[in-house]
Amino acid sequence: MTISSTRSVFWLILSFAVVLAASEEEEKSSSAIFDNFLEDLQNTADVNCANVKFSLRNPFQPDNDVCYIVRGKPETLSSCEFNNTSKTFLVIHGWTVIGLFESWVEKLVAALYEREKDANVIVVDWLETAQDHYVVAAQNTKIVGKEIGLFIDWLEEITNIPLEKLHLIGYSLGAHVAGFAGSHATNKVGRITGLDPAGPDFEGVHAHRRLSPDDAHFVDVLHTFTRHSLGLSIGIQQPVGHVDIYPNGGSFQPGCNLRGALEKIANFGILAINEAIKCEHERSVHLFIDSLLNEEEASKAYRCGSNEMFDRGMCLQCRKNRCSTVGYDVSKVRKARSAKMFTMTRASMPFRVFHYQLKIHFLGKMNQSEMEPAVTISLYGTNGDAEDLQLNVQEKITTNRTHSFLVVTDKDVGDVLKLKFKWDDSGSSLFNKLSTWWFGGSGVQVQKIWVRAGETQKKGVFCLKDPLKARSAQDVIFVKCKKSWRSSSKSQKIVNWLNFDLADIYR
Ligand SMILES: *[C@@H]1O[C@H](CO)[C@@H](O)[C@H](O)[C@H]1NC(C)=O
Ligand SMILES: *[C@@H]1O[C@H](CO)[C@@H](O)[C@H](O)[C@H]1NC(C)=O
Ligand SMILES: *[C@@H]1O[C@H](CO)[C@@H](O)[C@H](O)[C@H]1NC(C)=O
Ligand SMILES: *[C@@H]1O[C@H](CO)[C@@H](O)[C@H](O)[C@H]1NC(C)=O
Repeated sequence: MTISSTRSVFWLILSFAVVLAASEEEEKSSSAIFDNFLEDLQNTADVNCANVKFSLRNPFQPDNDVCYIVRGKPETLSSCEFNNTSKTFLVIHGWTVIGLFESWVEKLVAALYEREKDANVIVVDWLETAQDHYVVAAQNTKIVGKEIGLFIDWLEEITNIPLEKLHLIGYSLGAHVAGFAGSHATNKVGRITGLDPAGPDFEGVHAHRRLSPDDAHFVDVLHTFTRHSLGLSIGIQQPVGHVDIYPNGGSFQPGCNLRGALEKIANFGILAINEAIKCEHERSVHLFIDSLLNEEEASKAYRCGSNEMFDRGMCLQCRKNRCSTVGYDVSKVRKARSAKMFTMTRASMPFRVFHYQLKIHFLGKMNQSEMEPAVTISLYGTNGDAEDLQLNVQEKITTNRTHSFLVVTDKDVGDVLKLKFKWDDSGSSLFNKLSTWWFGGSGVQVQKIWVRAGETQKKGVFCLKDPLKARSAQDVIFVKCKKSWRSSSKSQKIVNWLNFDLADIYR
């Protein structure tokens, strides 16, 4: 077997692992294939020094290597027009099958220059080592990192740049390379951003053997491919920075359509899957590019104990640094324990969506635990409308309990003025039951809906608009509750909100 075909096979095995896990068949045998494959490579010799090059790209040719800075040759700094007073970025690629830069590199370089005009954007080229077998390349991230660490020490000595202005950005295996670079540099670098750090061979290992919060003053991480299949996830699942953001739960990314690819595998073969996997893994890079280019439309992420709680809309608070901008402008909060944060996104750039929590209390005499609402919701606000959004229902509805739901939209509706619920399958038997919820016809009643907007942190209470009309209508409309009602029980309502919030936090 030639080297390049071995490499492709590894990628295919990664892909197969995902496919097989998805179909949950032949789990054992494929796992064995995978283990053998790893074992075969364990004995491969590793290198003692890596060929690492530092290309200072310029804003007018973000796609071209026109000038290399060479450690030990200060004249290369001036000939490449290194600006020793401005921010410096080191962009570090990951494992490669083809031995060439992927197309995201020039996009990231251009976006960095767009945002930081006078910056030095250096592309670290370790392609020669990165195109080895995955397992060998993974082992050699340490040597490559050490080489970069030496470069950083030299750069600091010659240019006097404060390391606070040094920002390493690593994708996949490159994220761990950045970690090793940070830990090898004599003085701590300012920031490392890990873009979907690689999982295989790094998940669960000691902090010294992977990217970790010790590697820089601030380490932030985006996780976009953390599905577990056969003990393997292409992106690392565990938090490895000070702030770890999991867009869309760190799982299926909208627009990548891995689910669709899995279904089409019979017709289109394994390559369709490769594209989908790459799309999800690389989404981390594009989210970061988005944050550089679309500062005004920055996505927000929210700290949360679990993705399940986030999917129920329970974590949209911003108090005490509980929320942050995604990407370049992330809040640099360093806690003893790393913070997992979550956000939803659109399928394409700009990725931002607006998050809303809806809390609905279902009052009822009977136990209606079998209710499963299949409704859509529309938000009408001061800036516009967002219609027919899915109500994300994670659990069965029971009476005399307050349920919390997450609703997202990419439209900026401003302050919400009105809510409309709608169910389309009016022919079904479910319709009659559902249409009576809101006023108590089937023994279940919804009096009020509490809404919290994550992006603005505004809250509101909504009451049923026309209780009599709702009795027969397919749409049910809630408007801001009247002042008279609010003033009579305002203090009580505030207490309720606080109680809910505390419950959310300590749950
Ligand atoms: C170097 O960067 C600084 C900002 O960091 C800028 O003011 C200055 O003009 C730059 N120098 C050159 C020669 O571009
Ligand atoms: C900054 O760079 C210029 C030319 O590249 C050099 O003359 C100068 O000494 C450098 N400044 C420091 C503080 O090293
Ligand atoms: C819900 O609460 C109401 C009022 O407190 C009570 O009358 C009703 O029996 C309760 N329903 C259930 C199913 O517990
Ligand atoms: C209602 O159903 C829920 C869930 O099935 C159950 O936990 C609860 O005890 C029931 N309550 C009554 C009053 O039957």
